[in-house]
Amino acid sequence: MNDSTVAVIVVAAGSGTRLGHPEPKALVPLGGDTILGVALDAVLGMREAPYVVVVAPADRVDEVRERCVPRAAAASVDLVVVAGGLTRQESVARGIAELPREVEVVLVHDAARPLAPSQVFDEVAAAVEGRGRGIVPGLPVVDTVKRVDAEGHVLETVDRSELAAMQTPQGFPREVLESAYASAGAEFTDDAALVAGAGVAVDVVPGDARAFKITVPSDLHRAEQLLTERAAAASAAATRAEPSSRRALPAHAATPRVGTGIDVHAFSDDSETPLWLAGLRWPGERGLSGHSDGDAVAHAICDALLAAAGLGDIGGMFGTADPRFSGAHGEVFLGETVRRLADAGWRVGNVSVQVVGNRPRLAPRRAEAEELLTRIVGAPVSVAATTTDGLGFTGRGEGVTAIATALVVPS
Ligand code: CTP
Ligand code: MG
Repeated sequence: MNDSTVAVIVVAAGSGTRLGHPEPKALVPLGGDTILGVALDAVLGMREAPYVVVVAPADRVDEVRERCVPRAAAASVDLVVVAGGLTRQESVARGIAELPREVEVVLVHDAARPLAPSQVFDEVAAAVEGRGRGIVPGLPVVDTVKRVDAEGHVLETVDRSELAAMQTPQGFPREVLESAYASAGAEFTDDAALVAGAGVAVDVVPGDARAFKITVPSDLHRAEQLLTERAAAASAAATRAEPSSRRALPAHAATPRVGTGIDVHAFSDDSETPLWLAGLRWPGERGLSGHSDGDAVAHAICDALLAAAGLGDIGGMFGTADPRFSGAHGEVFLGETVRRLADAGWRVGNVSVQVVGNRPRLAPRRAEAEELLTRIVGAPVSVAATTTDGLGFTGRGEGVTAIATALVVPS
């Protein structure tokens, strides 16, 4: 049907031991469909039709073929189904063996990430084509990560700023993937590791919270909830499109929205309290008091984002007395806020935040703050600062105010 130069290999041959369902994971029901069916829909939603290889459990190949081929054909997409192997790596290798000659770019995707949006597939494919390198979608790691020995003793804290959690689809120039697989000695947990093991450069592009992997039952529950919300949003949009009911529904429901957030923290009486602001630690500066780390900039951004999306505010979401957030850094709140927005169908357009206070002097570290916050939020964040000419509590140096504005757009 098409001579696509982009192929997507959907690996779906795993048994799903940790999910603990009688069916192999990809065939477990989800949203009135199966996990694989939902994943396939995202692939079929790509801007340009790809060639699709589904790698199915060996004893379910015929059944998967019967379900998937007509569905792909309806979208004018060529799709083949092959039997998987004992490991994910072997399953990918079997998929690679099915690629037609004209394919130049290959995306490898876990069926277990059914809600990865079509847009991520498009972006990864375009980045591989543009850069000629391996491309993996990744998200910043928001939890503190520690190296722990076999006895459960903490050895060290790993520098989180250098870490990213990898997702799929992972994309590669065909010859890179083929030769890396041909020469792979060891087992790798993902294709990027295998390709990097063969000495090929791999770049990370922003991932998407919705591309999470269904591993345990609670993940399946979360996916089910998101699909229910997505179906409700789609039916509301369809109703809006009906001329007869156009007046009954707000015409602005699918347009971008802005929100404002303000946060104030007093400087701590304890001169030993470290200052955390805009996600950064400020050595030598007096800290801010608060249940968390007092990062007024991060908190104001969270409130602006939540307000824009109509999701309430940071106090309602995290609970100011919740012991889990005692001493937590701003990026924990920001990461979770962005995830909640994504779950509710919003992505961040941009954020602008202004700090009002005498100290710390923002200017020398403005670029660093903007870079860090931009990475966490996944959209441009600009940071400005001002003093108040000696007036008010900020002018007297008693505390810091941060005021943020956020733009969110339907995703
Ligand atoms: N996969 C595969 N062939 C295998 C093992 C895994 O195609 N032999 C696929 C899975 O179907 C899944 C993806 O690789 O889409 C990621 O693997 P994982 O989430 O670990 O799935 P399972 O191996 O099925 O789950 P578990 O490890 O809990 O058994
Ligand atoms: Mg597995």
